[in-house]
Amino acid sequence: MGEQSELVRELRTDSGLGQDRAHSARMYDYYLGGKSNYIVDRQAAEELVTLFPAIAVAARANRAYMHRAGRFLARQGVRQFVDVGIGMPAMPNLHEVVQSLVPDATVVYVDNDPIVLVYADELGNGTPEGAIRCVEADVRQPNELLAAVERTGCIDFDQPVALSLHALLDFIPDELHPHQIVGQLLGWLAPNSYLSLTHCTGDFSPDAWRAVVDAYGHRGVPVRARTKDEVRRFFHELDLVDPGLTVAHRWRPAPESGPMVPDKRVALYAAVARESTAL
Ligand SMILES: C[S@@+](CC[C@H](N)C(=O)[O-])C[C@H]1O[C@@H](n2cnc3c(N)ncnc32)[C@H](O)[C@@H]1O
Repeated sequence: MGEQSELVRELRTDSGLGQDRAHSARMYDYYLGGKSNYIVDRQAAEELVTLFPAIAVAARANRAYMHRAGRFLARQGVRQFVDVGIGMPAMPNLHEVVQSLVPDATVVYVDNDPIVLVYADELGNGTPEGAIRCVEADVRQPNELLAAVERTGCIDFDQPVALSLHALLDFIPDELHPHQIVGQLLGWLAPNSYLSLTHCTGDFSPDAWRAVVDAYGHRGVPVRARTKDEVRRFFHELDLVDPGLTVAHRWRPAPESGPMVPDKRVALYAAVARESTAL
């Protein structure tokens, strides 16, 4: 048994880490067909499939968007990436996408879940010219999070950074002021930095999404589906890159994206925007 598997086994015996209840990262891994999930995650995920049968379609669309956005940002010349809420590793991960185009790119992955960070060991070292780091921090404390990122020594906040918040703010309820959190994160970024964000929505199937949100809540995972206007507010004062805020599979689809599915099956808004004002 490898070092990581040993560690995961040890973690499983520690009830303080929450392996006895479903976790968003491991449920998402299950929707993607991954193996980094426990029975409690699979049971919760299956319940959600009955409420919103396309949930795996949405998860795959989210991941495919992340790949396209990563390639787009690398082609814009961005060399520094901060990905908050990384989830379980699933090839290709962000650093594999961007370092294939920009070998000296640095990627700092951030998550607040210690088990996700154990699995993040699988991410390896990336290219010899670039760097990857993993940091344990919580987006609910944005300044502390980016201070921890800065301490890695891999990110120079005087230079442009691409900040990814993919399928993350869905887990931040309104009372924790997610729009303010994003504003505080953006306050760290130099001009010509980018924000890439995805967020689930009930706009196309309100009843199904009410049921999904309730089911997550009953499992102890608070989720908030947001309207297009609520998601657009995350990009306040940023310049949205063409095609703007759209359903994830419609954001610059690539030949490998395959046929379009109905928006209601993807149920996820996505956009990339540029920070253009001097701070
Ligand atoms: C659904 S997964 C998204 C994974 C990946 N970003 C993607 O889009 O493929 C959500 C991730 O956010 C992390 N997360 C949830 N709440 C967080 C918080 N308050 N601070 C940091 N990470 C958080 C979870 O642990 C999980 O890894």
